Amino acid sequence: MTIKKNTGYAFLLLAFSANLWAHGDVVPQAVKTEGLEPLGEEWLDENPYRGNARAIEIGSSAYNQNCAACHGLEAKSGGIAPDLRLLEAGISGDEWFKERVINGAVRDGRVYMPKMADYLSQEALWAVRSYLESVAIEE
Ligand code: HEC
Repeated sequence: MTIKKNTGYAFLLLAFSANLWAHGDVVPQAVKTEGLEPLGEEWLDENPYRGNARAIEIGSSAYNQNCAACHGLEAKSGGIAPDLRLLEAGISGDEWFKERVINGAVRDGRVYMPKMADYLSQEALWAVRSYLESVAIEE
């Protein structure tokens, strides 16, 4: 009973945040990536900035401005979208991260997660991934 109730609530919140995006109330924030090695247009398969202190710093603010509305402040999910601290470390986590930020999550015409790579540079997104790895927790 309780579980069912919570699930409905999370879904409502989710629909709400996706709506905010769609209506432009939550707008993607430009991310300055000065100090990071430029990567060009083509997406790499592996995070080139892993453990890079500057990337973690940039990624932290980029995350809070562009992902936290759905995934939770400081990457602590409130149950709306997956807790990204649990995303696998290393290259297999990188692959899934890349897939999601490029393609988003769209099913039956519903946007659960926008295609973030349409709004943010590869540099900014790998910086976010570096930040997420710095706060990762074991499941
Ligand atoms: C409008 C809400 C929303 C925003 C904004 C958003 N996401 Fe998501 N994200 C989701 C939802 C919902 C899912 C689960 C998708 C599904 O159901 O398949 C998800 C899934 C993911 C996944 C896969 C997680 C897993 O465990 O499978 C990653 C990685 C991810 N998001 C990264 C990001 C990053 C990085 C940002 C910011 C740059 C971001 N998301 C912004 C809603 C959002």
